[in-house]
Amino acid sequence: MRVVLLGAPASGKGTQAAVLCEKFGAPKISTGDMLRAALAAGTELGKEAARFMNDGKLVPDSVVIGLVKERIAQPDAKNGFILDGFPRTVPQAEALEAALLAVGTPLEAALQIDVPRDLLMERATLRRTDKRTGHIYHLKYSPPPPDAELEHRADDQAETVTKRLDQYDAMTAALLPHYEKLGLLRRVDGVGSPQEITTRILAALEH
Ligand code: AP5
Repeated sequence: MRVVLLGAPASGKGTQAAVLCEKFGAPKISTGDMLRAALAAGTELGKEAARFMNDGKLVPDSVVIGLVKERIAQPDAKNGFILDGFPRTVPQAEALEAALLAVGTPLEAALQIDVPRDLLMERATLRRTDKRTGHIYHLKYSPPPPDAELEHRADDQAETVTKRLDQYDAMTAALLPHYEKLGLLRRVDGVGSPQEITTRILAALEH
């Protein structure tokens, strides 16, 4: 299972990646999580990335491509992975294809989770993450248990979410024709309960 999850900010990529990883025993590789971990560890890379992230901009390709190439070469990713939030630009997609081609394990699918923009704002601003477990909650749709240690992401303020959505439309949407041309694109309606979306994703992966 070598799959990339595409979709706008807060469309449910991280939520679905966690379910798919559990089901297929493949690691979830999230560039957003990796960059936030680098920031929490106080590395220069993390501090540099945070300047872009907190402003709703994409981190430069050279930074994220290096991170992902290193990560997919790790032993636990040899038999597959679920990529969440990478690629986000056509150069990132091409770098991923070249890295996978070099080891003879091409990508199997690019899954686009489609959610209308007005729902995305609500999903992002009411998202909370448990900092101990990384579990993703939503104050309205997936309320956290009382003992959760909740974090509100710095880039989930409404103003920054608007910039991230604009950035998605400007840059990442170009990936859809890229993957369509390669015959790898699968589109899934992202409106419904998380369980309904999982069922649609599993059906789409069978085709
Ligand atoms: P990243 O962390 O990847 O953020 P993102 O793509 O903007 O996606 P999100 O994490 O916001 O949302 P999601 O789709 O995972 O949704 P979730 O499942 O959490 O990236 C952050 C930043 O890092 C970027 O802006 C950029 O600066 C940088 N970056 C990362 N990768 C990069 C790259 N490759 N290149 C350059 N820069 C990069 O769900 C959202 C909420 O909705 C949750 O509260 C959840 O509980 C709820 N929810 C989920 N599903 C449903 C449902 N079906 N119904 C109701 N609620 C739901």
